[in-house]
Amino acid sequence: MTVIEPSEGKAGTVPAPIAVALDAPDLETAARWATLVTPHVSTVKVGLELYLRYGPEVVASVRGASGVKIFLDLKLHDIPATVAGATRAVARTAPAYLTVHAAGGAQMVEAAVEAADETGPETKITAVTVLTSLSEPDLAAIGLAGPASEAARRLAGLSVEAGARAIVCSAHEVAAIRSEVGPEITLITPGVRPSGSDSQDQARVATPEEALKAGADLLVIGRPITRAADPGAAAAAIAAALRRS
Ligand code: C5P
Repeated sequence: MTVIEPSEGKAGTVPAPIAVALDAPDLETAARWATLVTPHVSTVKVGLELYLRYGPEVVASVRGASGVKIFLDLKLHDIPATVAGATRAVARTAPAYLTVHAAGGAQMVEAAVEAADETGPETKITAVTVLTSLSEPDLAAIGLAGPASEAARRLAGLSVEAGARAIVCSAHEVAAIRSEVGPEITLITPGVRPSGSDSQDQARVATPEEALKAGADLLVIGRPITRAADPGAAAAAIAAALRRS
């Protein structure tokens, strides 16, 4: 299920279902990238590094006056009461998506969902299933048996059961996870590379068109846009290619 945002972007077209990962060293760079890409994309993603350095100020800076959706990728993982408190603390910045680790268990995901609902219904608690940096031997070493895709499917099901409304997963797992969680859940996929661009450290990549075709709703794309000579033009080109496909 592809969610197309109802609002029109400044470019006069519907913003593409892309979350640009603002993995910038400082707030000024992040805000500049956000200004360049927000006419073309629905969402920008703020990660741990920027948030720990600048706090809620970074969210206000990248949101600016554009009203772009914020994906706050903090991957919370602690006991339920602590995750609930942390969710309340950041929910005031009104992110559209806030990530938690599904491996924290159903009660932890549920505590985050309840805390987010108290502060405002706009924040979707988004469960991260299995980190793509972990190989199968790594997973076995931490006691997660079986193939990574099986663990991801199981963790997605558990998280949705606990109230999560979005899941982060690889484009290669989207179809299996969609059949596990149904059509209403937002599936978000990193590891997306336009054809012909450098895969950098991403091992199992999909093109934006392939990821949407597999059933993803929101594509996380960082360096192919932010490291381009003109990030605005790179975002516009990917958005236009998606509209054509
Ligand atoms: O630059 P690139 O497109 O590889 O950026 C991908 C973004 O998605 C980064 O912020 C990275 O932390 C994040 N991410 C990922 N793989 C996951 C989960 C998140 O690459 N499984």
